[in-house]
Amino acid sequence: MGSGEKTSLASAIDGDRLWQRHMELARIGATARGGVNRQALTPEDGRARAKLLDWAAPRGFAASVDPIGNLFIRRPGRDAAAAPVVTGSHLDTQPTGGKFDGIYGVLAGLEALEAMCDLGLETRLPIDLVVWTNEEGSRFPPTTMGSAVFAGALPLDRALATRDATGVSVADALAAMLAAHPIDGRRPLGFPMAAYVEAHIEQGPILEATDKVIGAVTAIQGLRWFSIEILGQAAHAGTTPRRQRRDAFSAAVAMVTALERLMVDETDTVRFTVGRVEVAPNSPNTVPSRAFFTVDLRHPDAATLARLGDQIEAVCRANTRGCAVTVVETIRSEPATFSPKIVSAVTAIAHRLGLPHMEIVSGATHDAKFMAGRCPSGMIFIPCREGVSHSEDEDARPEHVTAGAHVLAEILADLANSAD
Ligand code: GLV
Ligand code: MN
Ligand code: MN
Repeated sequence: MGSGEKTSLASAIDGDRLWQRHMELARIGATARGGVNRQALTPEDGRARAKLLDWAAPRGFAASVDPIGNLFIRRPGRDAAAAPVVTGSHLDTQPTGGKFDGIYGVLAGLEALEAMCDLGLETRLPIDLVVWTNEEGSRFPPTTMGSAVFAGALPLDRALATRDATGVSVADALAAMLAAHPIDGRRPLGFPMAAYVEAHIEQGPILEATDKVIGAVTAIQGLRWFSIEILGQAAHAGTTPRRQRRDAFSAAVAMVTALERLMVDETDTVRFTVGRVEVAPNSPNTVPSRAFFTVDLRHPDAATLARLGDQIEAVCRANTRGCAVTVVETIRSEPATFSPKIVSAVTAIAHRLGLPHMEIVSGATHDAKFMAGRCPSGMIFIPCREGVSHSEDEDARPEHVTAGAHVLAEILADLANSAD
């Protein structure tokens, strides 16, 4: 691939180029175990964006950013004033992340646009490739920060004021990134889109287990994130009797134990995770004065998500062991349903290309969730090895990477040339 006459999107998609770019981006923030640590708005995140812009520049695509740093790279259409079709994902990773989560949607989008250029394929509507800011939320909670702010689901001021564990704010980290890698163009939040389609690895085991190459994503389950801070009193571990203690970590353990009981679910559908725990002063012989933990709660059913999430604060308050507790919900997103038109278009394209496919619900959250209420939206999944993601072991097969990019290019071209 990549040489000879380009007569179709299939021949114009360059699978080697696409794969090599994944490997090249994976060097920015590479971990010793073969994964990637490129958390949002770090110098590494900035370098990955700059690398992407280097690849886009020879095509003449213009770049712009919105107030939360979401990056848009435009392939023009004949109708310059029209709302664009948008595709993309994110370049930030988990602390022990992989080479594909998010990166695939961005690189497959660029590949689709380049294939259209190589083919001389014009579209009526512009197509924007988006890199959403801070999808992972591991450095700055919450997850999907950039798309939530874009869609008005999270106030810009609150997002910009969010601080990481070392006290750096999103506002300062974003300013530093834009100073290191300046971008001239500016875009407003919430501008109209004609359609939104995001490609992503599945991050679960279903496609691989059923020998499918393409997932036409019908929905994303709902999600609620909470931050729980407990303040007690530091005291001597050897001298302070139990009933005099206000042990913040002991309270945290009681809270998490009670929450685990609340989340028991015979159907194994509830997803409940305490992924970050902090203890201060973190000294073996001092009773902890402060504890902090996060809750990530997900469910496909809005009523169940509401019922469980609404009990979290009360359960924490019932287990304070004499400490003070503050419970803050940092993001709530309801289950999202994608456009049936986009789901059937993905299915039809996969069918026409002879790619085994199925409809699938996403367990992971995605920026596409916040586009679903704004314009016809959808997602294309490809398998990943053993369904492993948010892990240095994350992997995908080159032929699947290419196939998903091909499906993406076809649907983007169709949407950008459709009459309405
Ligand atoms: C995305 O990274 C998620 O947490 O589902
Ligand atoms: Mn992702
Ligand atoms: Mn992720």
